[in-house]
Amino acid sequence: NSESTLSITVVGASGDLAKKKIFPALFALYYEDFLPKNFVVFGQYNSEEHFVELNKKMKEKEAGKLSNRLFYLSVPPNIFVDVVRCASLRASSENGWMRVIVEKPFGRDSESSGELTRCLKQYLTEDQIFRIDHYLGKELVENLSVLRFSNLVFEPLWSRNYIRNVQLIFSEDFGIEGRGGYFDNYGIIRDIMQNHLLQILALFAMETPVSLDAEDIRNEKVKVLRSMRPLQLEDVVVGQYKGHSKGGKSYPAYTDDPTVPKDSLTATFAAAALFINNARWDGVPFLMKAGKALHTKRAEIRVQFRHVPGNLYKRKFGTDLDKATNELVLRVQPDEAIYLKINNKVPGLGMRLDRSDLNLLYRARYPREIPDAYERLLLDAIEGERRLFIRSDELDAAWTLFTPLLNELEEKKIVPELYPYGSRGPVGAHYLAANHNVRWGDLS
Ligand code: BG6
Repeated sequence: NSESTLSITVVGASGDLAKKKIFPALFALYYEDFLPKNFVVFGQYNSEEHFVELNKKMKEKEAGKLSNRLFYLSVPPNIFVDVVRCASLRASSENGWMRVIVEKPFGRDSESSGELTRCLKQYLTEDQIFRIDHYLGKELVENLSVLRFSNLVFEPLWSRNYIRNVQLIFSEDFGIEGRGGYFDNYGIIRDIMQNHLLQILALFAMETPVSLDAEDIRNEKVKVLRSMRPLQLEDVVVGQYKGHSKGGKSYPAYTDDPTVPKDSLTATFAAAALFINNARWDGVPFLMKAGKALHTKRAEIRVQFRHVPGNLYKRKFGTDLDKATNELVLRVQPDEAIYLKINNKVPGLGMRLDRSDLNLLYRARYPREIPDAYERLLLDAIEGERRLFIRSDELDAAWTLFTPLLNELEEKKIVPELYPYGSRGPVGAHYLAANHNVRWGDLS
């Protein structure tokens, strides 16, 4: 409203994320008229004096009006707490709200993450902290709950009674390309699985929340996370890409990157099997797969249903009844879609069966552009909507699941299985799935 001012300060404004995501998202929000009339954006403040200076500038712009202040921290965790301290002591709003959006990494394990949370809480209340996981802002991930909770053809099927396994797949068709400084210290499990894929899993598997309020949803998500068994070595396969030549072009190995140590054992690929020990999901494998430098760029959720008991058409599928199971796919990106694989008869006088897709292809149904995840999340933070941000107990639970495994991988110096750049990843991922009687849906 015209009586208030919104100041947005991006700390880490010269970084890649700010350039590629934060500023374009802010511009899109401004362009589409989602930002309040009086708003100001500031960039790059990193010392205590800078924050004093910033405070002065903000006050000039605010001219005594109600002033809300949003800080977006896109900085490495070692300077995180310092920035929060300076911002909260030197530049917090006197008469409006102050909120801080923080980007991962939120630590490297349970201990460092807990320490970070404790430090942040010296200066901020949990309500002021908006931990971002941009996968939660993706259109198809938002749609997951709508699909499940508002469709009778899905909601009653959402359990071990009908679902055989769930697969969460993330792949990128490019390597690390100069980001080794960050990535080599974290690896794919921390970069993608412990946050993006695990968050999707929690949303997928949670019990029906009491309402759509942020606290109700996050209460259910944290329960799922706490019902899971921490991962062990035998639950995972790790890989690292090696150099490869294809079509006259050669692609570098991970360890060829100048920002990566030559003897690095950091995983650029991982596959994992997770289990939820509750009445709804007992025994259902949730398989995750995440990798860099693979053959394609894709993120999807695949739900494979059980066989139809006493299937009348069993013989028509030969010995491979798996070919006849229904599969629901939410393609998060690219080319957003939700499709359901069904069995049907090929038209004609004979009785031949076929597999077809009932397909909701977003670009055909909704030809307008889909907003970027950062747009949605920035707007939510401005509006104080916390549903899509990670609460500290969720974060703790997520680290509890992965920390023992991460420690073991490091202590035992587990050597990742090499896979060629641009391939489908290490063959070990197939064996891991097969051990749980699963076939990766994206490969069949
Ligand atoms: C980030 C990871 O969180 O997500 C990157 O740090 C990854 O390694 C990126 O490339 C993928 O995001 P998106 O939206 O491009 O799929």
